[in-house]
Amino acid sequence: MIISGSNPVHVQQAVEALCAGELLGLPTETVYGLAADASNQTAVAKIFKAKGRPSNHPLIVHVASAGSVHQFASSVPDFAQKLMSQFWPGPLTLILPRREEMAAAAAGGQNSVGLRCPSHPLALEVLKACAAKGVWGVAAPSANLFGRVSPTSAAHVQTEFGPELLILDGGECEVGIESTIVDCTRGVPVLLRPGQISRTQIEQGCGLKLVSPEALHTQAPRASGTLESHYAPTAKVRLMSSAEWQKALLALGPHTQNLALWSVQKPSHESMGAGLIWRAMPSNATQAAHDLFNVLRNFDARGVRTIWIETPPETPEWEGVRDRLNRAAA
Ligand code: TXA
Ligand code: MG
Repeated sequence: MIISGSNPVHVQQAVEALCAGELLGLPTETVYGLAADASNQTAVAKIFKAKGRPSNHPLIVHVASAGSVHQFASSVPDFAQKLMSQFWPGPLTLILPRREEMAAAAAGGQNSVGLRCPSHPLALEVLKACAAKGVWGVAAPSANLFGRVSPTSAAHVQTEFGPELLILDGGECEVGIESTIVDCTRGVPVLLRPGQISRTQIEQGCGLKLVSPEALHTQAPRASGTLESHYAPTAKVRLMSSAEWQKALLALGPHTQNLALWSVQKPSHESMGAGLIWRAMPSNATQAAHDLFNVLRNFDARGVRTIWIETPPETPEWEGVRDRLNRAAA
């Protein structure tokens, strides 16, 4: 059931559901989360079950403010503190050493915990009300079935989990791709997942160079979002340069069928077969991130079998979108 975030009675209902150990579709500025009380093992188990996600894949725990971090983290390195003060509330998740007795199930049994303070006003309102009732953290993976495209609207969440799930409608997500994840448990900041907050911003924010997980020669923590194939629509995704798709379309001529194209430039009139669905890709990375999952879902809903996507530029601001597209195409 979708309930309105602009109705205080409904917001209260959402808070009560969480505090009672129920699941909630929660809006954040990145994507919608499938939320539950992070300290309630039974509630957390419902998340893994609903998503079909392996229970050893850790979930992000959402907190109302940096002040709640010590409920879950046993220590916070200086550089992590700097990142929190600059980017929270916002689309940044920090992996920190976990207090042994806290949120073990949500952390998938690892000795670290992923923490994030989201900036969506409704998410903050819900988290603050939960904290006031002693629920310090809300575990929430993206509200999609395991391996599928993340939801950026309440309707998307309902498509994934059906009418039974309580979903707080907070409108369309502003950012559109999941948070940047920085592992802060290894002495140096390690970028686990690129997002809207760029590599450059992180490095400037903490005064340290980001290390890539491969450079560390240790086993990376389990992270679903870092599996090679993830964020995948049902249709097959292919990344192509602008020259490649133009040539391929011309070769197909009027015979295109069940084909969708997301590209900056509109296909020429001659190459626009009747069976082609085209959507404009914004030339600005922030806007493209905002549209990305919605476009993939729309193509899927229209039953296309193949999606061609113009390869985004190799510039830093596109890193988050490039990452999701590569996984969608894998
Ligand atoms: O923007 C977001 O981060 C959204 C919204 C709802 O906050 N959440 C999200 O959650 O994307 P999820 O579960 O779909 O992706 C979280 C990623 C996963 O790849 C998970 O494995 C990783 O974070 N993660 C969480 N805790 C971790 C930990 N302790 N160590 C390593 N990776 C962790
Ligand atoms: Mg996810």
